[in-house]
This record gives sequence, C-alpha cells and structure tokens, in this order.
Amino acid sequence: MLPIPILQTSYGKLYQGDCLEMLKGLPDGTADLAFADPPFNLNKSYSSKMDDNLSDAAYIEWCRAWVAELVRVVKPGGSLFLYNLPKWNLPLGAFLMERLTFRHWITVDMKYCLPIPKRLYPSNYSLLYFIKGSTPAIFHPDRLPIECCRHCGGEQRDYGGYKDKMNPKGVNLTDVWTDIPPVRHLKYKRRSANELSLKLMDRIVSLATDPGSTVIDPFGGSGTTYVAAELLERKWIGMELDCSAVISRMETIETDREYLEKISGLKNRLFTQRALSLRSAHGFATGKYRVEQGKPQAKEIELFA
Ligand SMILES: C[S@@+](CC[C@H](N)C(=O)[O-])C[C@H]1O[C@@H](n2cnc3c(N)ncnc32)[C@H](O)[C@@H]1O
Repeated sequence: MLPIPILQTSYGKLYQGDCLEMLKGLPDGTADLAFADPPFNLNKSYSSKMDDNLSDAAYIEWCRAWVAELVRVVKPGGSLFLYNLPKWNLPLGAFLMERLTFRHWITVDMKYCLPIPKRLYPSNYSLLYFIKGSTPAIFHPDRLPIECCRHCGGEQRDYGGYKDKMNPKGVNLTDVWTDIPPVRHLKYKRRSANELSLKLMDRIVSLATDPGSTVIDPFGGSGTTYVAAELLERKWIGMELDCSAVISRMETIETDREYLEKISGLKNRLFTQRALSLRSAHGFATGKYRVEQGKPQAKEIELFA
C-alpha cells in the first residue's frame, strides 16, 4: 500500500519515504519508463541524512533490491535507465543482464568534479539502458544538429559529398553524449552537486515515452525527472526521503519550462539558429544541406554544450 502522496500535480504523484518500501506497493507493469539516479556511495551528505558511505557489498546489495523492484514495475516493452558511476553500473548491469534485454551503455561525458590525484580525470557517467522483452514499445531518439565551431559556425567534421543526403532533422544520436551541461547556472541550480540536467532528462523521457505514458523515478532529489515528465505531459510517480526540494521546484516550474523551450532549438534540426547565423556571417554555405525552414528559435539558448 502506498501512503498518501505529499504532492499531486496535473500529471504526477510524489511520495515521501523509503523508495524500496514504496516500490513494493506498486503493481507489476506500472511504468513505461523507470529511471534511477541513486546516491553514488561517495560519502556525500544529503538533506535526508541517508548513509552514503556503505561498504561496497552493502551498497550493491541495496541497489539490487530496488533495481529488482524497478524491473518488476516496468511494463513489457518498457525501458529502464540506470545512471551511476561505471564502478557501480558494471555489477548492476550484470544483474540486469539476467532480467532484461540490454540496449546500450550510454556514456554521458561530463567534466563535473575535480581531478583526483593518481587517477584519470573522471568524465564518464554511465547510463545503462535496458528494456523488458525483445523490442522497445517506444523508441524515438532525438536527432542532433551538426557539430559546428562555436566561433565561426564551420562544421567540425567533413561531410564531403553526403551533405545533400543528410536528414534535415539532424544527425543520429550516438551512445556517447557530449552535449549535456553540468548544472552550474545559478538560475537553474537548486541543489549542490546532485541535480541532473533537464536536458538529459528531456532526452531520456522523450526517447522512451509518449505523452500519457508513465515514468517512475525512485530517487527524486530536486525533481528533474518529474519536471521533465510534467512539462512533456507524461504521468509520473516520484519518491524521495526528503521531498522539500521537489516541492519547491514544482512551484517554480515555469523557469524549467522556459529552459526546455530554449533547448528545443538544439535538437531535431540540422543546424541551430546560432550556427546558421555564424555560418552566414563567416561565409559558410549551407546550400547543399536540406535545411528545414522551421520556425526560428528566437529564444534559442546560448548553450553550445
Ligand atoms: C543523486 S540524488 C537524485 C537527484 C535527481 N536525479 C535530480 O536530478 O535532482 C539521490 C536522491 O535519492 C534520495 N534517496 C536516497 N535513498 C533513498 C531512499 N531509500 N528512498 C528514497 N529516496 C532516497 C536522496 O535523498 C537524494 O535526494
């Protein structure tokens, strides 16, 4: 049995408490998409005062318990995404291999923390993508604009004789995502270090769900998944030990709506508006490309990353 939600919105329900207990209260096959960004066991302090310094074995055991619940609550054809450090996603991926169908190990390339002495600079955040069954019920990945120089708009790669064959909606999304900005902008940042980029959650929710689908995220944090789901008109079920950050974020969701509108100009087109202006100023022709004459993105964000 689930408790009474601490917050209800047009599309979502937020429950305060231990996600493992609450997941057990959900029926099988509830979600089209389950996404989890748990604490990484890095001895960080959370407002919920949870213990983020377990032994490796205890952390993996705990993760397996809620991952098994997520597997259960995903619908046939539904998706499960797990965001963590490679160190943890390696064993958790092996656990998932026995239960779901592997689709991708997505690398989110993000230089986020400080270099660690005697180690390589960590910039590989692992995003595991599994589905239940052999084919995804929903799969529509965004396409991305051609990578262009942020100063002159020239292509970073030579597309040679293929320019006229390129999809006007942009290039295929790969399994290495280099365009996800760490949340640093004061206007958008609400919690130190833990908040994921709305751009990342917009991409995942758009890829694996349709309007009206159901998204579950057992580790709410500041609520990025719920905001993405709400703005994209997906139903959502959220859980968090301390829901205060999600509640206050939902009160200012219009700031997130504005951000989402701005970044919509950074996907599903061959050139961003900014790249087109730079190209025209620096004499780069776009004539050979099939550029769609879409609505100009007047508010397109000054964000190349
Ligand atoms: C890395 S943060 C999630 C950040 C979130 N993805 C965002 O973008 O804001 C992990 C969150 O999980 C919460 N948490 C940890 N253990 C939990 C549990 N057993 N049940 C529910 N929430 C938990 C912590 O309080 C923390 O806010």
